[in-house]
Amino acid sequence: MAAASSFDLISDLHLDFWINSNNTQSQIDLFVDSLLPTDRPINPSKVLVIAGDLGHKNSQNELLLRSFKRYYRSILFVFGNHDLYLTSSSARWKSKYLSANRINEMKQLATQIEGIYILDGSTVSIEGVAYGGTGMWHDFSFGVAMGFPEPYLLDIWQHSMNDANLILPKFNLTTLQYHFKKELEKLESIFEQSQVIITHVSPDASNMPTKYLNDPVSTFYYFDGSHLLSRAKGKVWCYGHTHTQIDYLHCDGCRNALGYPDERTGTKIRTIQL
Ligand SMILES: [Fe+2]
Repeated sequence: MAAASSFDLISDLHLDFWINSNNTQSQIDLFVDSLLPTDRPINPSKVLVIAGDLGHKNSQNELLLRSFKRYYRSILFVFGNHDLYLTSSSARWKSKYLSANRINEMKQLATQIEGIYILDGSTVSIEGVAYGGTGMWHDFSFGVAMGFPEPYLLDIWQHSMNDANLILPKFNLTTLQYHFKKELEKLESIFEQSQVIITHVSPDASNMPTKYLNDPVSTFYYFDGSHLLSRAKGKVWCYGHTHTQIDYLHCDGCRNALGYPDERTGTKIRTIQL
């Protein structure tokens, strides 16, 4: 009989906030080593799941994946919103002002490393466990449900969120909602057959920390996944995007975000038992 399986989880690494100069493998190796659980740094699970937001630079992200490969046989990740960002003029020029080109480049880089799987409306089965995912996106449904008019939410989103300026071409309401619809279709397509679901954006805002309640900006970090959560019994759903550890009490959900250095989360890679 096979031993009970597990996988390791982290999200929101934001690598370029931690290592902001040259892309040296040794620096990134030290960063990765600092994330390993202190009680078993040399015996992690065989699978690492990264629930999005690796960093702003594909070249750094590639070194990050190679570094994690020192410890993990398989690494699965979804794209977070920051993985679409074009943060510099050179990045914009290189990607021809299209975030999709940055995504395609990252996919190309990842295929050159054995055991890396990008989940973009796709699944992979490892040792009998089916993992599936996509980055997901948000619409304004949570804000509308709180009573905020949609044009008001769009205006706040466009004036307060980096997503509105650093993902190209820039979204308007129609394209934002179209992107959400396409991501939701990807999620639906992998949902039933996946035992472990991975998205960057959280499907549930019901346990949002009270300090964020009634703040329209907070609603941009979630999508209404209630129709899927009700079908998620027995599955594990991993996500990130917000860096809080406390806003989700769903028994089968898990979040383990590192976040930015000044947030001092102290997060380490966490093992999820199946
Ligand atoms: Fe994010």
